[in-house]
Amino acid sequence: MRFILYFILSFTLLWSKEPISPLETIPYNEQKAQLGKELFSDPIVSQDNTVSCATCHLLSSGGDNDIVFSFGIKGQMGSMNAPTVFNSALNFKQFWDGRAKDLADQAHQVIENPVEMGDNIYDIVKRLRKDKHYPKKFHDIYQEEIAKEHLIEVLVEFERSLITLDAPFDLYLKGESNAISQEAKRGYELFKSKGCILCHNGRNIGGNLFNRFGIHEANNHSKSLGRYEVTKKEEDKYVFKVPSLRNIELTAPYMHDGRVTSLEDAVKIMTDYQLGREMKQEDIDAIVEFLKSLTGKLPQILR
Ligand code: HEC
Ligand code: HEC
Repeated sequence: MRFILYFILSFTLLWSKEPISPLETIPYNEQKAQLGKELFSDPIVSQDNTVSCATCHLLSSGGDNDIVFSFGIKGQMGSMNAPTVFNSALNFKQFWDGRAKDLADQAHQVIENPVEMGDNIYDIVKRLRKDKHYPKKFHDIYQEEIAKEHLIEVLVEFERSLITLDAPFDLYLKGESNAISQEAKRGYELFKSKGCILCHNGRNIGGNLFNRFGIHEANNHSKSLGRYEVTKKEEDKYVFKVPSLRNIELTAPYMHDGRVTSLEDAVKIMTDYQLGREMKQEDIDAIVEFLKSLTGKLPQILR
């Protein structure tokens, strides 16, 4: 019932205006973001000084890594595919199952996750206070001794700076009609007419709602029960945050469990599982071409 209502609502809402809008920068504090950038790549934030955020979220290529599951401290393997940190500030919730309400909550959880970074955040704060150069850097910003809120805040400010502007598709939306190919334009029309847009929409082309993975075809080889793990409600089994499709060409493998490596296969899964329809190969190719036009520029702070 919830899904039917949601579909009717989406139809009326989405067809009234362009369902995707170009990315714009969001405000962030430059000094905090610069310090967050440094900490993002510093293993000082993990229990045994071996893993940094950048171990799993490579900033030079897509903001994720190219493996199915990531390795955290002591070589332990996680069970979910790492999503990109690029544009993650625009997501309505964080993580595949939405268990973190925002980026601050997310950062807190990952630092204390026994498989990923495995530390008590207070121990990291103690380490930072004893470090040679961090106390001064934090003091310059906060004028007081380092606290956990400061650590979280600088990481979040850095993440807010990671917006990838000027993807060819955004330039097209802004009126540059030659910014994308004819094939990509056809792909966008199909993306709308076949129904992908119902779930992947808004400025992040996803990241703004939950939906079931496996609507038309049972998704029975998923280990994670998705949103159910958070709410324990039967109707939330296999429900996940709809992922953003920005920079999707750079973020293989795909799906919460990294089950496929090519974009073409990802689109095929979507047509079978989510739309329950066959799609001609040439239409799949056009949609892939459209998806490739969603790759934006590396954020200014990283250049
Ligand atoms: C060991 C690998 C690993 C490390 C280290 C790591 N992450 Fe992640 N990150 C992941 C995985 C895997 C997920 C998805 C987990 C899930 O959804 O259950 C994730 C999810 C996220 C998300 C949510 C994105 C979204 O779209 O939901 C953000 C933001 C993020 N990480 C930022 C960070 C920051 C900041 C750090 C450092 C403090 C960090 N990560 C350290 C692997 C890692
Ligand atoms: C009913 C909602 C819905 C529809 C319709 C839908 N998707 Fe998805 N899409 C999702 C969800 C949910 C996921 C995450 C699946 C998972 O749990 O791994 C996803 C994942 C993806 C991914 C992988 C993203 C990543 O980072 O791993 C791609 C690519 C994708 N969709 C493209 C499409 C295309 C193209 C269409 C149309 C043919 C489409 N989707 C239709 C909900 C939808």
